[in-house]
Amino acid sequence: MQKLKAKIRDIPDFPSPGIVFKDITPLVQDPLLLKECIEELIRPFRKESITAVAGMEARGFIFGSLAAWELGVGFIPLRKPGKLPYDVQRIDYALEYGTASLEAHIDAISTGDRILVIDDVLATGGTARASCELIENLGGEVIACAFVMELDFLQGRDNLMSYPIHTLISY
Ligand code: PRP
Repeated sequence: MQKLKAKIRDIPDFPSPGIVFKDITPLVQDPLLLKECIEELIRPFRKESITAVAGMEARGFIFGSLAAWELGVGFIPLRKPGKLPYDVQRIDYALEYGTASLEAHIDAISTGDRILVIDDVLATGGTARASCELIENLGGEVIACAFVMELDFLQGRDNLMSYPIHTLISY
């Protein structure tokens, strides 16, 4: 998957000084590589009877909805607070400084649903862990979490020990 790395661009000091942002826009602009990326993301789960893919706002929407389409299942958006119009279930979680929240529609998941969680990057794992808990609170089962990339030095896997994790590239 070295080809993927070649299309993920480092942007120094974004969104704040000292952060090197991993920009996936060159990757999603390349149709053949994007298709390969989605196929690799879902490859281990084709026979897992996934019933829906959940993706986190915002970049998880890109990879997650394509993965859902490829698997022939629906897509569940996990959104930042105040964005979803119907009744929501919410989860609050801690960041290094402060807190964040995610919401899902209460009718997005039913008991017994087998959910694949997809996002662009596993960093500290806080977002993914909260997503998994939100899905479980709604009665769903998290089959696995899949990410295009993983930032090893942030040890996000430690935050997600209860769930199988699949990543395509790591830094
Ligand atoms: C980024 C990324 C993941 C999350 C990973 O999203 O897309 O969702 O952070 O970080 P974590 O593993 O430390 O929780 P961001 O909050 O920047 O939202 P955006 O996609 O809307 O920019």
